[in-house]
Amino acid sequence: MNNFMRAVGVKPPGLLAESLFVAQREIPKLKENECLVKVIYSALNRADIMQRKGLYPPPPGESDILGLEAVGFVAETSSSNSKWAKKTRVMALVAGGGNAEYVSVNEKNLMKIPDWMSFRDAAAITEAWLTAFQLLYWVSSVTKQEPLRKNIQDSTFLVHAGASGVGTSLIQMLKKVLNVKTVFATVGSKEKQEFLEKNLNVTKAFNYKDKEEENFHEMINNLTNKKGVDVIFDCVGASYWQKNTECLAVDGEWIFYGTMGGVKVEGDLLGRILRKRIQLKGTTLRTRSIDYKHDLMRDFENKILNQFNNYNLNVLIDKEFDLEEIANAHKHMESNANIGKIILKVSNESDLKQEL
Ligand SMILES: NC(=O)c1ccc[n+]([C@@H]2O[C@H](COP(=O)([O-])OP(=O)(O)OC[C@H]3O[C@@H](n4cnc5c(N)ncnc54)[C@H](OP(=O)(O)O)[C@@H]3O)[C@@H](O)[C@H]2O)c1
Repeated sequence: MNNFMRAVGVKPPGLLAESLFVAQREIPKLKENECLVKVIYSALNRADIMQRKGLYPPPPGESDILGLEAVGFVAETSSSNSKWAKKTRVMALVAGGGNAEYVSVNEKNLMKIPDWMSFRDAAAITEAWLTAFQLLYWVSSVTKQEPLRKNIQDSTFLVHAGASGVGTSLIQMLKKVLNVKTVFATVGSKEKQEFLEKNLNVTKAFNYKDKEEENFHEMINNLTNKKGVDVIFDCVGASYWQKNTECLAVDGEWIFYGTMGGVKVEGDLLGRILRKRIQLKGTTLRTRSIDYKHDLMRDFENKILNQFNNYNLNVLIDKEFDLEEIANAHKHMESNANIGKIILKVSNESDLKQEL
């Protein structure tokens, strides 16, 4: 193995996707309790676009290379008694460095790819499904047994950006794992609306770009006997705050995890939160500790990953790009065209087997 690898670089200020290129970078040096993963696939996340533009820097001490996830083989371990044997097929959750031929990752933040799952499918799992799992099982209280809590199947949900990587994972867990009856979603096209209603069985997907459905909050109130929904999963933020507070039920949970519609709010937000006893909970996965991510991954493996086929869950890959096509991959994400995940092919599986 020479000391250099291919990795995505950014020419500042990174406003356009064309500022991305594939650079030669040093292969990461391992710190204590880390594994070096030879990457076969990585995947795109919205955070990559913000990082490219200089709006979302990596946490201190983390790689400045883009990419929050990667799948591949363990190529090297920092300790001789690591629980990860060389060549083990793994999914890596990282705070940076995934869009490269090699990535270093704390051994606690790896998941074994189930034997029946291909590298390609695994590429679409890590960030989207762990985020959705965290929102549903760890941040929201819907799966917790609390006195006076409604039966989960009868609770009602609204998932914004329903066709996104995270949104499609959330919807599948709600419908197929938790057997929830009423799940609404918002989307920005007719194609996405049809996909969610026909393929993911959502109760109603509202196309917010359609004049007749832009006031989805009113339609939701009509469809729920004026009660509103019990939980909103919101990655949009400012542009939806009024609609959210209008169609959220009294004592409802507003799970806030992205800011695609902005962060600045003017108006009586606090009054509405108080009057409806709304629980507003914000969260991010990237900045969580190694141990938090470790515990989340183990819980996800037990409850979801190892039951993937039993629950009839589907891996939704929208499009695959080669690492060298990184600019086109970002453009595709920025066009808001994807349904499910955009993945990046980094190396060939066959090359890798020869190398090890
Ligand atoms: N907090 C965390 O830990 C965490 C972790 C991962 C991801 N996230 C967030 O989760 C969200 C989804 O991520 P992803 O990677 O799954 O996204 P994705 O697959 O790229 O999909 C995002 C979709 O959001 C919709 N959208 C974009 N701008 C919008 C706006 N201003 N208003 C309403 N909808 C808009 C678009 O679909 P339409 O055509 O339907 O408009 C777009 O395709 C992002 O906000 C991301 O930052 C948060």
